[in-house]
Amino acid sequence: MATTITTLFFFFILFIAALAVKEVEQQTSLEQPIISRIAFGSCANQSAPQPIWKSIIDFNPQVFIWLGDNIYGDIRRPYKLFGKERTIGPWKNVPRFVPASETEMQLKYHIAKNNSGYSLLRKKSQVIGTWDDHDYGLNDAGKEFSDKIVNQKLMLDFLDEPQDSPRRKQAGVYASYTFGPKGKQVKVILLDTRYHRDPLSSDGSILGDSQWTWLKKELNGPKTEITIIGSSIQVLSNLSATTGPLFYMESWGRFPRERDRLFKLIASSKRNGVFFISGDVHFGEIARYDCANATGYPLYDITSSGLTQAVEKVIPEPLAFLVEVAAWLTPTTMRLISPNCRYRSCTYGQTNFGAIEIDWGVTPVTVKIEVRDVNGHPATSVNIPLSELQNQGSNDKNTLKVAELQRHCTLEINLPWITRYRLAFLFYYFLAVLLLFVVVLTYAAIKLSRRIFGKCKFD
Ligand SMILES: *[C@@H]1O[C@H](CO)[C@@H](O)[C@H](O)[C@H]1NC(C)=O
Ligand SMILES: *[C@@H]1O[C@H](CO)[C@@H](O)[C@H](O)[C@H]1NC(C)=O
Ligand SMILES: *[C@@H]1O[C@H](CO)[C@@H](O)[C@H](O)[C@H]1NC(C)=O
Ligand SMILES: *[C@@H]1O[C@H](CO)[C@@H](O)[C@H](O)[C@H]1NC(C)=O
Repeated sequence: MATTITTLFFFFILFIAALAVKEVEQQTSLEQPIISRIAFGSCANQSAPQPIWKSIIDFNPQVFIWLGDNIYGDIRRPYKLFGKERTIGPWKNVPRFVPASETEMQLKYHIAKNNSGYSLLRKKSQVIGTWDDHDYGLNDAGKEFSDKIVNQKLMLDFLDEPQDSPRRKQAGVYASYTFGPKGKQVKVILLDTRYHRDPLSSDGSILGDSQWTWLKKELNGPKTEITIIGSSIQVLSNLSATTGPLFYMESWGRFPRERDRLFKLIASSKRNGVFFISGDVHFGEIARYDCANATGYPLYDITSSGLTQAVEKVIPEPLAFLVEVAAWLTPTTMRLISPNCRYRSCTYGQTNFGAIEIDWGVTPVTVKIEVRDVNGHPATSVNIPLSELQNQGSNDKNTLKVAELQRHCTLEINLPWITRYRLAFLFYYFLAVLLLFVVVLTYAAIKLSRRIFGKCKFD
């Protein structure tokens, strides 16, 4: 009898132990599932319809990354050339953008979070993110903006950051995440390009000292197969170099020394598998900077912008093609031009999101990144074998032809001036023709009226 009980007891213990092992196994596999689908996006007007969430949910991402302008928090006044409050022109007397109050910001976040599509995504995917100017609180703002402390709290509330998270105590919303089991790890580093940023034309700092120290530690830390660096503003493409003096945009390119520092840090960290994702500009594009002497392997920057905001939406539909023509006319050195693009310019000016798919099952492991339209169809895309993103100094993996390589290693500012300012020349040319036309017409009208008037007098 005693032996039976002992045996039974023994089996019972064994059973419990087996259960416990199973539990632990499940927990580790629960904690570190293989990540193979990541979506990202930026620029979502909380008050506008947001049909794109449906396609994002259909992509079934395990992680969704916000890249800024997650809400439009600041208040935008209309363009006004005349009147009491003039927001444009040489007589401008009030700023076009003003910060909203804390209550207004809270309300806007509430509307964004309550969106039915986004709510569904939050249930299915882990949502992480950083911010850009409009959710930071003011268009084009940097470190001088005083509402940043309050707004950091609101932004972290929106992302459900735990109350005791160190991210709530630091100056800025930068953060890093590591997903996946050993051997299949994806690190996501999210930068804060606002909290510490010096004025736009200062060529000063974007990240500030504390964030640089942190970033260096993150890049030099444990290796991962893939490292995605999320920046609200574009890292590679320097569109301002070819759209100026007509208009300028924010980008790392506007801070050349800071950008070099970033490339050098990546190179010196000897970290493989790094690429950038970005937002902000209201169109999608994929850029590649390929100077073996600068970084050791090609750097990619996949821009998706925006979820609701898009350059082709700001002008009436029949004229939308003009945006495409302008994009095509803007010379580019970094942009990836491929026959697979929807448009010849390889930019995409309608609403879009970014879709990253990692195929861990092939050798070499391959990352497919697409900028997808509102229906989930790709508008521009790239396939990057991880073997291409290895700092081993060998060139035989390179997928580009020599001429292409040369282009991707040229800065926009080094283009011949006649090419670089093509858009501005055309613009001013059309303006001149228009002006001439108006002058001739006015002159003819005066002449005609004089003749008629003169005739009347004599009659
Ligand atoms: C957001 O959408 C609303 C409603 O369509 C519109 O009135 C508002 O101007 C938009 N804001 C921005 C920044 O586009
Ligand atoms: C939240 O969304 C639901 C429907 O999606 C709507 O009925 C409700 O009024 C919204 N609440 C607020 C406070 O916006
Ligand atoms: C980007 O363009 C701006 C404006 O032309 C220029 O001042 C800056 O030096 C450029 N940056 C780089 C890295 O080429
Ligand atoms: C890398 O090479 C390109 C072209 O060969 C050159 O223009 C550039 O200055 C070089 N950069 C560095 C950091 O040596």
